[in-house]
Amino acid sequence: MSGFEGFRYDGKRVLVVGGATGMGAAVADLAQEAGAEVVVMDVADVSRAGATSVRVNLGEQASIDAAIEACGGSVDALFACAGVADGTPGIERINFIGHRYLISQLIDRGMLARGSAIGMISSAAGLGWESNFATLSALLDITDWDASVQWAHDNGMADYMHMKQAMCAYVAREAYPMLKLGIRINAICPGPTDTPLAQANKELWLEFGSDYRRDVGTAPSTPAEQAAPLVFLCSDAAGAINGQTIVSDQGYLSAGLTNAFPPAGPVAQFLYGRFG
Ligand SMILES: NC(=O)c1ccc[n+]([C@@H]2O[C@H](COP(=O)([O-])OP(=O)(O)OC[C@H]3O[C@@H](n4cnc5c(N)ncnc54)[C@H](O)[C@@H]3O)[C@@H](O)[C@H]2O)c1
Repeated sequence: MSGFEGFRYDGKRVLVVGGATGMGAAVADLAQEAGAEVVVMDVADVSRAGATSVRVNLGEQASIDAAIEACGGSVDALFACAGVADGTPGIERINFIGHRYLISQLIDRGMLARGSAIGMISSAAGLGWESNFATLSALLDITDWDASVQWAHDNGMADYMHMKQAMCAYVAREAYPMLKLGIRINAICPGPTDTPLAQANKELWLEFGSDYRRDVGTAPSTPAEQAAPLVFLCSDAAGAINGQTIVSDQGYLSAGLTNAFPPAGPVAQFLYGRFG
C-alpha cells in the first residue's frame, strides 16, 4: 500500500449487511465509488445498480446460513450495519447474535481471508460496555445460538443498549484472536443520524443531544457522514487500527464528560458508565 491508494477498494469484494437503507446504503454507495464490488444483504428489498443483493433475516440462523451460501466467494470487507430499535421482537438476534453468527460462519468457511476487515455499527448507546464487561463476557463465551438468545433474555439484556454494549465488547475482545487470522475488527458508535430508523423513533433518537447541536450550529449526522469513517476503518489505510469502538457523535459525549457542555454531563456519565 502506498499513498492515497490505501483508502480505495479497487479489486475488493465488500459485503454490506443491512445495506437497503440508512447508513448501510451509504456505506454501499461509498464502497462502490471507491472501486469495490458490492454485495448487499438485507431483510428488505434492495435496489442497487451494479450490486448483488441477497435476502437475509438476521433473526433466523437458517436464513443467515442460506444468505452466506448465496453470497459465496470471499469477502475483503464486511460491514455489519443492520439494526432495529427497542420493541422489535428478536432484537437480541438482529442487533448482535445474528451479526456475530454470520461473522463466525464467514471465518469458519475461510471467506474472510488474511487482510480482510470487519466494520460494525454499534451506537453511543453501547458505550457503557467497559463497566459491564464482566457480565457481557459471559455472553461472548457462549457461541451456541439458542443458548445466547436464552442468556440475553434470562439476564434482562435483550434490548438495544445491552446488545450494542455486547457488540462493543465483542469488537474489543475479538480483535486479538482475529488479527492472528489476519482480520481486523472495529466499530463506529454513531450519535443521532438522520435515517429511516431514526425518523421512526424521532422523539428519542433525533432529539438526543439537540441542545448541543443547536449550540454548535449542526444538524443530526447524515448517513454519508457515518459511512465515511466506517469505510475508512475497513480500508488498508486503517491497518494500524484494531479493536476500536470509535464514537462518531460530533463531540457531544466528550463535551459532557469534560463538562465543556454541562447539560451533556449526566448522559455522558450514564452512557460511559463512569459515575465517579
Ligand atoms: N440512526 C441513528 O441515529 C443511529 C445511531 C446509532 C446507531 N445506529 C445504528 O445504525 C445501524 C443502521 O441503522 P440506520 O439508522 O441506518 O437505520 P436503517 O433502518 O436505515 O438501516 C437498518 C437496516 O437494517 C435492516 N434490517 C432490519 N432488520 C433486519 C433483519 N432482521 N435482518 C437483516 N436486516 C435487517 C433494515 O432493512 C435496514 O436496511 C443500526 O445498527 C442502528 O442501531 C443508528
